[in-house]
Amino acid sequence: MAFDGIRHKDKCVLITGAGQGIGRAAALRLAGEGANLVALDLSAENLESLKTEAEEFGVGCELATGSVADLAILDQAFELASVRFGRLDGLVNNAGIGGYMKRFDEVEIEEFHTIVDINLRAVWYGMKLAYGAMAGRGGAIVNVSSMAGIRPNRHHSPYGMTKAAVISLTQHASMDYAPANIRVNALCPGPVETPIFDQMRNYMDEEGVQRARSLVQSRTVMNRFGTPEEQAAAISFLLSDDASFVTGIAMPVDGGWSVSDGRRM
Ligand SMILES: NC(=O)c1ccc[n+]([C@@H]2O[C@H](COP(=O)([O-])OP(=O)(O)OC[C@H]3O[C@@H](n4cnc5c(N)ncnc54)[C@H](O)[C@@H]3O)[C@@H](O)[C@H]2O)c1
Repeated sequence: MAFDGIRHKDKCVLITGAGQGIGRAAALRLAGEGANLVALDLSAENLESLKTEAEEFGVGCELATGSVADLAILDQAFELASVRFGRLDGLVNNAGIGGYMKRFDEVEIEEFHTIVDINLRAVWYGMKLAYGAMAGRGGAIVNVSSMAGIRPNRHHSPYGMTKAAVISLTQHASMDYAPANIRVNALCPGPVETPIFDQMRNYMDEEGVQRARSLVQSRTVMNRFGTPEEQAAAISFLLSDDASFVTGIAMPVDGGWSVSDGRRM
C-alpha cells in the first residue's frame, strides 16, 4: 500500500482535548492528511481557531464545546460525526489533566473523582460509543495514556492510576472489538512541551517547576522534551491502515524514557 500523504482522506476522526497541545497537533496533522474532524474541548476560542486552520486543508471541522466530565458532550460530538459526516473512522481520546501533585494520603476524595471523570471515565465512555459508530465499516481508536501509566512518579498517584487504567481499557477493548475490525491502541508520551506543565505551578514555586522540568527531561535518554507534532505523527500512524496489524499496544513515544537507567553520560 503506497503512502500518498493523504492516508486519512474522507475519513472522520473525533478528537477530544483538540484545542491545544497534543490534541491540536493531532487534529491538524490528520486534517493535513485529509480527515474531516469533530473537535471537542473546554475552550471555544481555541476550537474556533483550530477550525479556521483545519479548514485551510479543505476538510470539514465540527466543534463540540464542553467538559468530557459531562458525558452529554461526548454524545453530542458523536452525533455531530454522524449528522455532518455520516461516519466515524477514528477516535482520539486525548483530553486529560495532569491533576494533583501530592502525597498519596493527601489526595481528597473529590480530587479522586474529578481526575477519574476526566482522564478515565470519559475515555471509557468514548470507547463505548465508538463501537456502535464504527460498526460495519471498522475503525481505530487511540487513547492517549502516558509513560506515567507504565512507570509511577512520586506524588502523582491520581494521574498515574488513571493512565494505567487507560492502558487496561485499551487492552480489553482491543480483544472485544477486533471482530468488528476496530483496532484499539494506547499512546504513551514521555514529556512533551505543552501547557499541561503549567499545572505544576499550582503545587510549587518557579524554582521547583524548573527543577522538576529538568529532572523530567533528564529521564529521557535524548535529554529533551518532545514536541506535540511528534505525538501527532504516532497518532496518525496508529489511526491509519499503515497500522493495520497493530492493536492492543501501549506505544511509548518518549525519547527513550522507557529504557533510561537514569544516568547522564
Ligand atoms: N504533555 C505531556 O508531557 C504529556 C505526557 C504524557 C501524556 N500526556 C497526555 O496527553 C494528553 C494531552 O495533553 P497535553 O500535554 O496536550 O495537555 P494540554 O493541557 O496542553 O491540552 C489538553 C487539552 O485538553 C483540554 N481539556 C482538559 N480537560 C478537559 C475536559 N475536562 N474536557 C474537555 N477538554 C479538556 C484542554 O482544554 C486542552 O485543550 C493528556 O491526556 C495528557 O495526560 C501529556
